[in-house]
Amino acid sequence: TGRVTYDPGFANTASTTSAVTFIDGDEGVLRYRGYSIEELTEKSTFVEVSYLLIYGELPTQEQLDAFDQRLRRHTIVHEDLRRFFQAFPYDAHPMPMVASAINAMSTFYQDNLSVFDDDQIDLSTVRMLAKMPTIAALAHRKVVGLPVVHPDNSLNLVENFLRVNFGFPSEPYEVDPLVAKAMDQLFILHADHEQNCSTSTVRLVGSSQANIFQSISAGINALAGPLHGGANSAVLDMLEEIAASDDGPQKFMDRVKNKEEGVRLMGFGHRVYKNYDPRAAIIKQTAHDIIDKLGGNDEMLDLAMSLEEIALADDYFVERRLYPNVDFYTGLIYKAMGFPTNMFTVLFAVGRLPGWIAQWREMIKDPETRIGRPRQIYTGESARSYTPMNER
Ligand code: CMC
Repeated sequence: TGRVTYDPGFANTASTTSAVTFIDGDEGVLRYRGYSIEELTEKSTFVEVSYLLIYGELPTQEQLDAFDQRLRRHTIVHEDLRRFFQAFPYDAHPMPMVASAINAMSTFYQDNLSVFDDDQIDLSTVRMLAKMPTIAALAHRKVVGLPVVHPDNSLNLVENFLRVNFGFPSEPYEVDPLVAKAMDQLFILHADHEQNCSTSTVRLVGSSQANIFQSISAGINALAGPLHGGANSAVLDMLEEIAASDDGPQKFMDRVKNKEEGVRLMGFGHRVYKNYDPRAAIIKQTAHDIIDKLGGNDEMLDLAMSLEEIALADDYFVERRLYPNVDFYTGLIYKAMGFPTNMFTVLFAVGRLPGWIAQWREMIKDPETRIGRPRQIYTGESARSYTPMNER
């Protein structure tokens, strides 16, 4: 094992080649299949971006319509899967509920789990993309104690997502175009981010030839942590904590800089982006638009902006090149839309799903894929003999 390289957190290890997503962390560039995130959020839709990520090229109108129709046909979940949500505790967190439901899809589609059959992989792709919004909303309705709203397949994926979260059973849902557009853009901005923790998890689990549902369920669990997708709800908890205390933002920042255990400026910093996170720039604007339109949360937005202002002028953050990341402003938008705080990371998962699928598919097709199996530097005891109980 003399040649093993020690690289904690894999900060300098490329685990794969990939043609899906490009990031230049110094320049703040993010592209899916070569298209910039700025252009895609302006001109494309989440369904089209999902197609682009998964199949590698923008669809023709005909291809997009066929894909969209397929997604609309698969939105409903099996009644037995729906009943899962009745069995979870009344105050269960939605992330493990969603991860469990995606994992459980392996049990509902047992005849279509081959990792070598392209048609089966494609069917799983469509099933997962179409049912994820329904599953996320089942978790949401459970959390808030409201009755289930079934999908209406005359709506597109994002409109339907708003319906199943906020609509009323057996009533048509009136889509607010501004909210639908913001939701669509947020999903696009979350859709892929190359080899982050959850995506690497999906690939690692998948490299054992575990099926796509099992692999992505593992990714959802990785996303749940507060250093990853969980940061979006942690930001809101942090803002609420600061607002409720008499300390004010500066005192909180002192605690961050003193590195009090467990105190970080959530929504700040990134492994790869060292100038700014291009997603955060777009999202900050959306936060203003949505909060202007829907009202509420003004104070929280002001508080977030003052934290950002303090940080950008403070040596601690400047030296470490810490800037707002994708999670800093999203929570304020989700809150204004009416989502409870513990749903925020589920929204990240809905957005990230096409990326996980694209990366899993690339992994399974790559002739260079081997089972993921990192090495270690052993630091334990050298060989010793067993001590009998009466001599310990
Ligand atoms: N607040 C205060 N200090 C920080 C922060 C922060 N948010 N982020 C990094 N630092 C400090 C860290 O203490 C370290 O200082 P020192 O050099 O004195 O030890 C230095 O900056 C480098 O940090 P690191 O933890 O070694 O950096 P990393 O690349 O391992 O971690 C990160 C990246 C995103 C996990 C981290 O910046 C962090 O914990 N941020 C807060 C959580 C967060 O917002 N996560 C969302 C990430 S973006 C999208 C996503 O994945 O959801």
